[in-house]
Amino acid sequence: YTITLNPGARGAAIDDTMYGIFFEDINRAADGGLYAELVQNRSFEYSTADNTSYTPLTSWAVRGTARVVDDAGRLNERNRNYLSLAAGSAVTNSGYNTGIRVEQGKQYDFSVWARAEAGTTLTVGLQDAAGTLASAREVAVSGGWKKYTATFTAGRTSSRGRLTVASARAAALDMVSLFPRDTYKNQPNGLRKDLAEKIEALRPGFVRFPGGCLVNTGSMEDYSAASGWQRKRAYQWKDTVGPVEQRATNANFWGYNQSYGLGYYEYFRFSEDIGAMPLPVVPALVTGCGQNRATNDDALLQRHIQDALDLIEFANGPATSTWGKVRAQMGHPEPFGLTHIQVGNEENLPHEFYSRFQKFRTAIEAKHPGITVVSNSGPDDEGTVFDTAWRLNREGKVAMVDEHYYNSPEWFLQNNNRYDSYDRQGPKVFLGEYASQGNGWRNALAEAAFMTGLERNADVVKLASYAPLLANEAATQWRPDMIWFNNRASWGSVNYEVQKLFMNNVGDRVVPSTATGTPGVSVPISGAVGLSTWATSAAYDDVRVTAADGRTLLSDDFSGDASKWTHHGVGSWSVQNGQYVQTDAAAENTLVTAGDPAWHDYDLKVKATKKSGR
Ligand code: AHR
Repeated sequence: YTITLNPGARGAAIDDTMYGIFFEDINRAADGGLYAELVQNRSFEYSTADNTSYTPLTSWAVRGTARVVDDAGRLNERNRNYLSLAAGSAVTNSGYNTGIRVEQGKQYDFSVWARAEAGTTLTVGLQDAAGTLASAREVAVSGGWKKYTATFTAGRTSSRGRLTVASARAAALDMVSLFPRDTYKNQPNGLRKDLAEKIEALRPGFVRFPGGCLVNTGSMEDYSAASGWQRKRAYQWKDTVGPVEQRATNANFWGYNQSYGLGYYEYFRFSEDIGAMPLPVVPALVTGCGQNRATNDDALLQRHIQDALDLIEFANGPATSTWGKVRAQMGHPEPFGLTHIQVGNEENLPHEFYSRFQKFRTAIEAKHPGITVVSNSGPDDEGTVFDTAWRLNREGKVAMVDEHYYNSPEWFLQNNNRYDSYDRQGPKVFLGEYASQGNGWRNALAEAAFMTGLERNADVVKLASYAPLLANEAATQWRPDMIWFNNRASWGSVNYEVQKLFMNNVGDRVVPSTATGTPGVSVPISGAVGLSTWATSAAYDDVRVTAADGRTLLSDDFSGDASKWTHHGVGSWSVQNGQYVQTDAAAENTLVTAGDPAWHDYDLKVKATKKSGR
């Protein structure tokens, strides 16, 4: 094989931020994962609305008498439930996965909000089936709700620890918490060190968060509720900031409870700690991920647009501004330096999405002209939704469009040239989610090969992130994933190593090159051209693939069976290789192949005659 470099020619400049990560709270990535809290269901808010198997006492065992109460004696309006513990009773928490993980010699910070009008002493212990893990602590409690703390030093290592709180006299408890002292960068309310360090080792250029389907699902009624505890599912950033005991927990789209202990402040802080650009995603009030609804309530939409503006103020505003002050009170008076914000994720209704996106964009650009407002292109990388969304984004001169795809390794090999023919004058691409289906070497190699195509097109593809990032091995909704963990260990997949390789070696500029003899996937000339659904029988009368000398290589007049031209269907031609990239509806396009030199010799054209009326 021969690779010829052309150092004299100037290829695309590559931004330092090009490769990043997408953190979504899927696969229990946050609670019991990156968020270092060791107590599960610390505020007794688990509910059947989160998961039908839940009760407010999930992960708690009671000795004696204890009940979860939702009444006016609560800790605060947004933290509804608390535990009423009778005299001489105790509760024990079993943590996540196999239990609470402690390591010999390390310190663990216990805290609890407690109320005991007549006064009591809490005895707090850490143990596993083999016995005590740390000397018990006694905490004197009196009067109304107050926060109490104690510190443990683990006498031995265990992954099956339990935390027990016993009370001599009647007491009310809430926010029962245990954190390792040793969090990532020693941040308070911090992150699990091994996971955060694995992410840091990637050296990501940006962090897209918090979803995904997490942010754009749920009903409009859900969105319209003013605060978290009143509704389920809609993710609103304001629910996730401020003191943790005032953050209303919520159902997570992926089927469990989210404490929001890892909230927007923590996402911004983590991005800063790892030197990455924060890139939050806010809901556009058009549901996606299989839910096709769009709000027509303009007041509701305006409220969410204001929320997006407030988010920018939270990130960038001076400490004297309303939301900058909230940030400063949380410990970060300096701005976080937000430059990008994404509105919406994978909406299936492109027109409905785009009209609402435009309202967000207009308001944000008017107030913050320096902020890039990122749009999206629906759930798939092709099809009517994708094409329509791209057309609207292109016509609207949107700055950047998010694309997602999860495909076979073969697809990634065959689509190395996907972006070669993207319009250089059009919106830039944010490849916000992609993965080949599998965690094997073959997948990793296919992704690496594909990433060379991203890099070659770094003038168009500005940001790219593999997804999902994290998975708890005992609670996985989505595979493959980049980093896996349980309560005692974490390990990167082979896909992680590929991402690390690229992120740690981001170049400044592409050096154009040509290769001969590269092993491509062969493309029989009598075989197929993968046609995007633009070229369906509904839209076109005729498709032809011709060589530069005018020879017709492939053609079909679309007569007869109308259905045979639907999605990737190419009639009697099977889809084997290559990609037909539609640059506009008008129809003359370059056929892109995936490496067979025989095909590079042809200056192929695909001509599709558009039916009138489309
Ligand atoms: O990454 C997992 C999911 O895939 C995301 O939540 C969603 O955006 C996509 O469908």
